[in-house]
Amino acid sequence: MISPDKLPMVETASMNDTHFDTILLINKLSTAVDAKDINSISELFIELIEHTEQHCKNEEEMMIEKKFPPYPAHKEEHDLALDDMRNAALKFTETKDIDAVKKYVDLNLAPWFLQHTETMDAVTSMFLENSELHRVYWDRLVPRK
Ligand SMILES: [Fe+2]
Ligand SMILES: [Fe+2]
Repeated sequence: MISPDKLPMVETASMNDTHFDTILLINKLSTAVDAKDINSISELFIELIEHTEQHCKNEEEMMIEKKFPPYPAHKEEHDLALDDMRNAALKFTETKDIDAVKKYVDLNLAPWFLQHTETMDAVTSMFLENSELHRVYWDRLVPRK
């Protein structure tokens, strides 16, 4: 479970909205795990994967549009997290091991999500919201010949 007030806020409103939805989904998955509800866990894994694919894609499109230089590093973190999520879901489909899902959510997904939002997403959002300012500074610092 993640308390919504633990969510690190970034400068982009649409990203904060998505992050609140992520917390709701993670918490629904935790509730299904505690209830040992195998069907709900399976359904929520699918919902979480679809949500996270769209979440990552939206951020990546914004980074490309604004030419954010560390885009590859941010995308790599997304890709690794999505791989972990798909693997955890696949493993659950094969084994129905609820304890493994609990470990994945509490020790991997939730801490990763908070840490990623506080670092990568916060810095990216700062850049996205001030990209015009960066361009003005750049033009002043690197005068065209
Ligand atoms: Fe994000
Ligand atoms: Fe991100």
